[in-house]
Amino acid sequence: MKISRRSFVETIFKAVAAIPILSLVVTFLQSCGNSNPSSPSNSTTPSVPTSSSFQTIHTTANNGKITLSIDSSSSLANVGGAAYVDYQSGSILVDRANNDSFNVLSSTCTHQGCTITNFDTSTKQFICPCHGSQFNLNGQVVVGPARTSLTAYQNTFSNNQLIIDLNAVIT
Ligand code: FES
Repeated sequence: MKISRRSFVETIFKAVAAIPILSLVVTFLQSCGNSNPSSPSNSTTPSVPTSSSFQTIHTTANNGKITLSIDSSSSLANVGGAAYVDYQSGSILVDRANNDSFNVLSSTCTHQGCTITNFDTSTKQFICPCHGSQFNLNGQVVVGPARTSLTAYQNTFSNNQLIIDLNAVIT
């Protein structure tokens, strides 16, 4: 089959014009393929504590209430132990103040809102990963730059069940 010069030039122009469109399609498909719903969405996504005296507990809040069973394997089994507790819409810090009382604290740092994910098991202080603020077991500032205590939530403990009320802030 004989191709006219005009037809040949038109075919070349169409092919060249299609390159940017193909490039956009490939870029779009690559970005879709790389998406990972479990990837951190920002730098303040908490790392997972691994110390035996500072565990991560995954749970669910129902109508603003969380129930934790504290057994002997829990990092909350002993006085001074702590846990990072995450639930479907947030996270909190929990520590055992005494045999029968716990502190439940917001994990949101009062300095600039980073999520507090670290706990120094020797000093018993929560440490913000962003600028190093430190809070004691009651959520009070020990080291700045934060200047305000962590928000604390009411809780009750009996029969090894800790019931946390996220709707009840201790003022
Ligand atoms: S946000 Fe926590 S110390 Fe700055």
